[in-house]
Amino acid sequence: MRKPLIAGNWKMYKTPAEGVDFARQLAPLVDGINDRDIMIAPAFPALEAVGGALKPTSVALGAQDLFWEADGAYTGQVAPRMLVACGCRYVIIGHSERRQYFGETDETVRRKVIAAVKAGLVPVMCVGETEKEREAGQTFPILDKQIKNGLKDLIADDLAALVIAYEPVWAIGTGKTATVDQAQEAHRFIRSHVAELLGSTLAEGMRILYGGSVKPENISELMAMPDIDGALVGGASLKPDSFSRIVKFN
Ligand code: 13P
Repeated sequence: MRKPLIAGNWKMYKTPAEGVDFARQLAPLVDGINDRDIMIAPAFPALEAVGGALKPTSVALGAQDLFWEADGAYTGQVAPRMLVACGCRYVIIGHSERRQYFGETDETVRRKVIAAVKAGLVPVMCVGETEKEREAGQTFPILDKQIKNGLKDLIADDLAALVIAYEPVWAIGTGKTATVDQAQEAHRFIRSHVAELLGSTLAEGMRILYGGSVKPENISELMAMPDIDGALVGGASLKPDSFSRIVKFN
């Protein structure tokens, strides 16, 4: 069985001090939980401090992005081994906000997935359609393209830990959650597509997270669906109380 993963994507919120404060408040709220994995992805400047504060807990650290080169003259970029040195275990790749505002493409996503794997980081590769694409009946072709291109040239052995996050763009930060049936349908499609590309063993073991207006009020019905293995939470991950309530879904 797939172990659920509840991940918080803090986006461009929280200084190191604010992040540490959060971590200290979260720790007792999630103490003793080991039947699900928990991850927090702060902005780069807060990684080390938040990682330190999370050390005594079972909450893992993730980054929100990385660059694919090992080092070099790349002003403003962050290398995979720097994330590892800060204590990261996960890295989010290809979030729709990066695709939308920072020119991320399926090809840059592919390079970043390869770099993450090489560095021993768990890639959380984000995919999802826009509202226009959904209305045009393009949801599956878009997911197909993002997955096929994002994972091109990778083999199952490299991707044993791969996590895919399905985040319909129209559901991010809008309060509009996909219905559980819409989410399940997309997750099922993603799993069967990955099975075709990389084999059913990988696909059956792979965790697929849902993201887009996840809240304490809707997490349980999402997690009840057979192909939803966790959540990538934005807004509701910023407060220890709401995030811990999501972690403790039943
Ligand atoms: P919200 O939970 O704020 O909709 O954000 C989702 C998201 O983009 C997580 O990566």
